[in-house]
Amino acid sequence: MWVLVMSLIAIITIMVSHWVYRWQNPKCNGKLPPGSMGFPIIGETLEFFTPYSLYDIPPYIKKRITRYGSLFRTNLVGENIVISTDAEFNYHIFKNEGKSFLFWYPESFTKIFGGQDILTYHGMVHKYLKNLVLHLVSPENLKAKLMPEMEEMTRTHLNSWTHCGTTVDIKEVSSNMLFEYFAKKIFSYDDLEGTRKLRENFSAFLDGLISFPLNIPGTAFHACLQGRKNAIKVMKQKIRERKAANKKYGDYLDHLLEEVEKEDTILSEEKVVNLVFALFFAVYEITSSAITLAVKLISEHPQVHAQLAKEHEAIIKNRQSKNSNITWQEYKSMTFTHMVINETVRLANIVPAIFRKVIKDVEINGYTIPAGWFIMVIPSAVHLNPDIHDDPLTFNPWRWEGKQLHIGSKTFMAFGGGVRFCAGADFTKLQMAIFLHHLVSKHRWTIVKGGDIIRKPGLGLPCGLHLKISQKHGEA
Ligand code: HEM
Ligand SMILES: *[C@@H]1O[C@H](CO)[C@@H](O)[C@H](O)[C@H]1NC(C)=O
Ligand SMILES: *[C@@H]1O[C@H](CO)[C@@H](O)[C@H](O)[C@H]1NC(C)=O
Ligand SMILES: *[C@@H]1O[C@H](CO)[C@@H](O)[C@H](O)[C@H]1NC(C)=O
Repeated sequence: MWVLVMSLIAIITIMVSHWVYRWQNPKCNGKLPPGSMGFPIIGETLEFFTPYSLYDIPPYIKKRITRYGSLFRTNLVGENIVISTDAEFNYHIFKNEGKSFLFWYPESFTKIFGGQDILTYHGMVHKYLKNLVLHLVSPENLKAKLMPEMEEMTRTHLNSWTHCGTTVDIKEVSSNMLFEYFAKKIFSYDDLEGTRKLRENFSAFLDGLISFPLNIPGTAFHACLQGRKNAIKVMKQKIRERKAANKKYGDYLDHLLEEVEKEDTILSEEKVVNLVFALFFAVYEITSSAITLAVKLISEHPQVHAQLAKEHEAIIKNRQSKNSNITWQEYKSMTFTHMVINETVRLANIVPAIFRKVIKDVEINGYTIPAGWFIMVIPSAVHLNPDIHDDPLTFNPWRWEGKQLHIGSKTFMAFGGGVRFCAGADFTKLQMAIFLHHLVSKHRWTIVKGGDIIRKPGLGLPCGLHLKISQKHGEA
């Protein structure tokens, strides 16, 4: 009897230690990059999702760069991952999209955007979906149509924030502004009450975004999925009403629904809703965070503020009529503003990680990354690397002076790179420039409170940024 029990224990011990050994030493036809796979099952997930409040490279990443170098392996949310903090290798990854690497996000991240449904298509289908987005925010469309609309909206909202010495949370009011504008563009949503409801559902969604992906009631992640569900419900209702009314609005939703009706289309109503959801997220959450951080950083750097004001006042002075709209030519001439925008997104690192799936074994620096693994590119590790950007934690727009960057630059990847380069980069930059133009040329402001950031590791501004804004004397 005892012999049996002892041998059973021995067998279990051997099996467990074999399993632990296997966990820590995954199969590979070559040498894996250095690193630790963490504990069985949970890997290093807990440490990765530990919140922090710095502009600097995430502590989790920094520690491992020191220990292992620029490329290392780990396990997060149940996936084997190689983390790249190497500018050259990142560039290689972006350039080989669809060859060795595929745009692909782990299940627990894509869940919040409706699974692999909308973003992870490849080849022709990817092109088709990207064109759908560009139908809305292509440079031509921005120039001809959206720019004057965006300016009108910005002007109206900014003025409404200056009333009677009240303070406004710039994060909140700018996301309201963008939400309202986008709701109008997408589904002619003029119904303010309806817009507000949908916005509440989005807020619930955002609170749990890129937080620890544990889906049980009470967790932020659960609330996030719930918020998404509600927002989807509201949008589906919208589509149902529209179909029942059989009326055309000429808006973006009409365009998408027409595409759904086409023969041989890959677009379904389900996909439309997921696409619209992702667009709303990008426009109103990411763009408003970028605007808020720009305002904060400019406020903290009076020399930057002064130079910006000079640029925009000169533009106004050179106009025939002081109150005309910004022209495309004027926009293109805002050199310093573009430097401020680049510097803001470099330092902000709003997108904490970019994922790819390895589809065939990749050799790099004597290491092998096995097919089936994920690669996680950490843009902040490049943006904040002192060997690449001098004094990287300092907000210094002048560092961009005379630098001719292009899409997929090795040292700047705030908007990604290669064929997956952000479709909304032009939209976001334009909106930021319009906002800064009106803010610095027509208004004064002081920070009342807030401005602290938190990264979980997705960027959040838990207390917003509260400002007192007033019109400059003699401006309307
Ligand atoms: C500050 C604002 C923004 C930042 C920092 C940002 C960042 C990024 C990054 C890093 C990627 C690449 C992801 C990858 O390669 O895996 C990306 C892709 C994308 N972004 Fe943005 N984005 C911003 C705003 C927007 C806006 C406003 C829109 C929509 C109007 C948008 C639409 C997209 C789309 C559709 C893709 C996928 C492109 C593709 O797969 O080809 N983004 N973005
Ligand atoms: C979200 O949407 C649902 C309807 O789908 C609604 O009942 C709920 O009150 C909304 N607001 C929040 C904060 O969830
Ligand atoms: C500026 O653009 C808005 C929106 O398109 C338009 O209504 C307004 O008339 C334009 N203003 C001038 C001075 O052209
Ligand atoms: C800002 O970055 C973009 C790349 O996204 C680049 O094309 C542009 O030249 C940069 N602008 C300035 C003023 O540095």
